Amino acid sequence: MRHGSERAPASARDGAPEPAPGPDGARERAAVLLRGASKTYGKGHAAVHALREADLEVPEGELVVLLGPSGSGKTTLLNLIGGIEPPTAGQVVAGGRDISRLDEDGRTAYRRDTVGFVFQFFNLVPSLTALENVRLVAELTGRGDRERSAAALAAVGLAERGGRFPAQLSGGEQQRVAIARAIAKDPALLLCDEPTGALDLDTGRGVLRVLQDLNGEGRTVMVVTHNAAIASMAHRVVRMRSGRIVEVARNAAPAPAEEVTW
Ligand SMILES: Nc1ncnc2c1ncn2[C@@H]1O[C@H](COP(=O)(O)OP(=O)(O)O)[C@@H](O)[C@H]1O
Ligand SMILES: [Mg+2]
Repeated sequence: MRHGSERAPASARDGAPEPAPGPDGARERAAVLLRGASKTYGKGHAAVHALREADLEVPEGELVVLLGPSGSGKTTLLNLIGGIEPPTAGQVVAGGRDISRLDEDGRTAYRRDTVGFVFQFFNLVPSLTALENVRLVAELTGRGDRERSAAALAAVGLAERGGRFPAQLSGGEQQRVAIARAIAKDPALLLCDEPTGALDLDTGRGVLRVLQDLNGEGRTVMVVTHNAAIASMAHRVVRMRSGRIVEVARNAAPAPAEEVTW
């Protein structure tokens, strides 16, 4: 389902830095590269340093969990990667493009064409069916055909539920509709901010299973959470505290979503 081959190589774009060589000496393509990325809200005494000089490299196809207590800068980091906001300093490169240099229109196009978002609260339009919710967003990218949207619903296990309204779906099903909505446009990056935060354990596991499956198809997935248990299913765990990345750990044997417990 991915269209990775349509994108130009990293070196051809915007003078962005080359990713570091991989373990085999070959250049591993980075999905996301941060160099000294910082975000400060406000000025002077009122300044809040939400993110401080973050360096991070996420190879394509990984499932990354960003872990940290409330207020540690997780959402800020995800929003910089997703082009919701620009950094106040440093560089954010995604898919070989330096998105920190884009203006507002550029960021809008980047978000629309490249990034799928999933949030804690599913934010479905209550007056539209599940399928219509998926199509609504896919249409913005010119990929709103019925078949593609139905396929996205099928990918999250909801092929039979497309005609239901959000109020006729459980919380877990609503979050899966939100995931279908995010992937219908076939984004290079799937960014999830506390995707299980409003769900109970069993339902949350079902959502994590869907995210792990989508990652298994080669999609780069980043999941922000304050729930340390979710880290066990990641290829890479990024720990944050007080606006800083304090640890990045590789996990050689990610656990299946079913084994995540909290
Ligand atoms: N738009 C904003 N204006 C001012 N401060 C903000 C804004 N967004 C986030 N912050 C602050 O930045 C810090 C990090 O927030 P956030 O990235 O949302 O943390 P997390 O997602 O880990 O809970 C917090 O102190 C928060 O209050
Ligand atoms: Mg947050």
